[in-house]
Amino acid sequence: MVLLSGKLGFVLAYTGLVQAWSSFTVPHTPGRDDTPALLAALPKFVANSTILFKEGITYNILTPITFPVLNNVEVVVEGNLTYPSDIPTIQAIVGSSTFSGSWFTFTGGNNVTLRGSTNDKWGWVDGHGQAWWDAQQQINRPHGWAFSKINNGVIRDMKIWKPIGWNFATSGSNNLHAFNNKIVAVSDTGSFPFNTRHISPSDTSPYLRNSYCEGGHGLSIGSLGKGGSVADVQNVLFTVGSCQKNTLYGARFKSWTGGNGLARNITWKNIAFDGVPFPIYVTQNYWDQGVGPKPNTTSANNTHIQDFLFQSFVGVVKEFVSETVPAYFVPGATGKEVAIFDLYPDTAVNVVAKDILATTETGSPVAVMCNSTTISTDVGFKCWNGPFIRTRAGI
Ligand SMILES: *[C@@H]1O[C@H](CO)[C@@H](O)[C@H](O)[C@H]1NC(C)=O
Ligand SMILES: *[C@@H]1O[C@H](CO)[C@@H](O)[C@H](O)[C@H]1NC(C)=O
Ligand SMILES: *[C@@H]1O[C@H](CO)[C@@H](O)[C@H](O)[C@H]1NC(C)=O
Ligand SMILES: *[C@@H]1O[C@H](CO)[C@@H](O)[C@H](O)[C@H]1NC(C)=O
Ligand SMILES: *[C@@H]1O[C@H](CO)[C@@H](O)[C@H](O)[C@H]1NC(C)=O
Ligand SMILES: *[C@@H]1O[C@H](CO)[C@@H](O)[C@H](O)[C@H]1NC(C)=O
Ligand SMILES: *[C@@H]1O[C@H](CO)[C@@H](O)[C@H](O)[C@H]1NC(C)=O
Repeated sequence: MVLLSGKLGFVLAYTGLVQAWSSFTVPHTPGRDDTPALLAALPKFVANSTILFKEGITYNILTPITFPVLNNVEVVVEGNLTYPSDIPTIQAIVGSSTFSGSWFTFTGGNNVTLRGSTNDKWGWVDGHGQAWWDAQQQINRPHGWAFSKINNGVIRDMKIWKPIGWNFATSGSNNLHAFNNKIVAVSDTGSFPFNTRHISPSDTSPYLRNSYCEGGHGLSIGSLGKGGSVADVQNVLFTVGSCQKNTLYGARFKSWTGGNGLARNITWKNIAFDGVPFPIYVTQNYWDQGVGPKPNTTSANNTHIQDFLFQSFVGVVKEFVSETVPAYFVPGATGKEVAIFDLYPDTAVNVVAKDILATTETGSPVAVMCNSTTISTDVGFKCWNGPFIRTRAGI
């Protein structure tokens, strides 16, 4: 008897341990918004849980999702997720005072994984961006995923299809590993007009600060390593159709001065651009120019970068004038640069721009900025502040 109750006690304790991990499959109702049911269930799955969007289901994410602070949680996107397909519905939500800023928001926590699917047919987050691109619609565009204030975060195998706006923001997150993510933003209407219509400063300036690629092609990685935090980003592929006018940067990478970690194997491929002041821009020396002079780095560290490839960029560089682009964006730029590599000595390896075919609006020679003391590998063009001259790695 005594022995039996002892055994029973052990069995109960063991069961308790097993049940400490919870799994939740997000329910789906055809034709309805699937967000409310998820939000209602979330408070029970904020720790030691898996939250699964199941393969075989296309979930309607018709209203934004904000996750509470999570600990030891994995959010798995094995089904397809779809945004509303009409523009006004989204604009009304984005324009409302309660909108968090992103369609999917993580508000913080520890050990949080956002995982997509390796099955090509499923796990796509479809932003229905085509209509936005075709309309060149830039008003009240939502950001995609805000993965904020997470310590020990992972973003892997995520696949974004035709995003409307910016894709992943990781502000305030530390020790982040992002790898095997895909962003496909290829237009099928060829809504890329290679026209050379001049845009006056007043047309462009309102958009310049925050737009990366018109039509919402998010090609940006960064800002990594703020305040010395550690970020590790690997194996990212951007395949994109086009970057157009009113876009400040084409493909961009930035890490904060004094950061830590590694960004490796990142490819930006097949990009046509028109009227873009900085088609290819890498900086490992980022700081917030709006708040003062470059801080004196106390750390000998910096975010290391390795195996970056910018391949097949074709288009027209916008020759900016100081009224449209504040000079502090890129000190020393002449406005004719197709590529700017602002690297930190001894921390950049194998950063290459290949198959670059660019002209400027006025036909003056295309230029580059690059400091040859900061990198010893061939970057695909002569590494200097001067005209673009292709080298072996650039062919
Ligand atoms: C989650 O699991 C850890 C052990 O893995 C445990 O220490 C913690 O208390 C659990 N949290 C909750 C809210 O159950
Ligand atoms: C972190 O979360 C994962 C699930 O994503 C879990 O398997 C793992 O045990 C967690 N790690 C710790 C230290 O709790
Ligand atoms: C999932 O979404 C992607 C992108 O929209 C689409 O290509 C794919 O066919 C969808 N999968 C299924 C099974 O519908
Ligand atoms: C680089 O990343 C791509 C995905 O963008 C992946 O297919 C490839 O295997 C990675 N290569 C290495 C050497 O990790
Ligand atoms: C950086 O150091 C220089 C020289 O020591 C000093 O003049 C300058 O004020 C410092 N800047 C900041 C932002 O602390
Ligand atoms: C420099 O980076 C290394 C490796 O990432 C890390 O172990 C070390 O703590 C960092 N040092 C500082 C001062 O941040
Ligand atoms: C090139 O980089 C080195 C090392 O960071 C620096 O000392 C030098 O001033 C830079 N040259 C130019 C022209 O910016």
